[in-house]
Amino acid sequence: MRIFLDTADPIEIRRAADAGLIDGVTTNPSLLAQVAKEREPSDIFKEICQTVEGPVSAEVVALDAEGMIEQGEKLYEIADNIVIKVPLTEEGLVACRALTNAGIPVNVTLCFSPTQAHLAAKAGATFISPFIGRIDDISGDGMDLIAQIRQIYDNYDIETEILAASIRHPQHMVQSLMIGADCATIPPKVLYQLLRHPLTDKGLEGFMNDWKSLGRDL
Ligand code: E4P
Repeated sequence: MRIFLDTADPIEIRRAADAGLIDGVTTNPSLLAQVAKEREPSDIFKEICQTVEGPVSAEVVALDAEGMIEQGEKLYEIADNIVIKVPLTEEGLVACRALTNAGIPVNVTLCFSPTQAHLAAKAGATFISPFIGRIDDISGDGMDLIAQIRQIYDNYDIETEILAASIRHPQHMVQSLMIGADCATIPPKVLYQLLRHPLTDKGLEGFMNDWKSLGRDL
């Protein structure tokens, strides 16, 4: 499964990319607002696209299809690995179809139901982003949605990739892997939670102490 980092922070992206842990990046307007300060969003996207080779999702902020298409085309000029993110609205799907027809990959975001995911695929989405954590937040079951979309896409040989999003903890990741999501986007904090294990730390500490007591060099 491909792992994308869900952040617009160039420092976090560099750190994860240097360790070879990520295959791409997803951003959204909220994540950009957290890091942009004085910087132009286009400069941030450019830096991110130079840091990772894989897909980098950049979201439009227009609400009408014409505006989304215009912004999407402009964003796509930044780099070949930009993917245009559009919201799962009627206007967003019109923009998705137009951008896809122009050869521009689209990530349809803010997906909360299997029928939305089906329609996004019909509009030609390259990625569909179901938001697991936000469904759990309102007492739903986000993982059920991933499983439903997986089954629907498999039933009809739909090629749109399921990008599990709004991942809040390692169990979301384990379940996404088990269900067979194509990719997952995770915040830096969760990425390092996936990596660490207290028994690894404890085991390493024991090895180091025993080695020190031997008093030799390798
Ligand atoms: C996905 O592309 C979104 O940026 C993200 O996963 C949203 O996560 P949140 O619900 O934690 O904000």
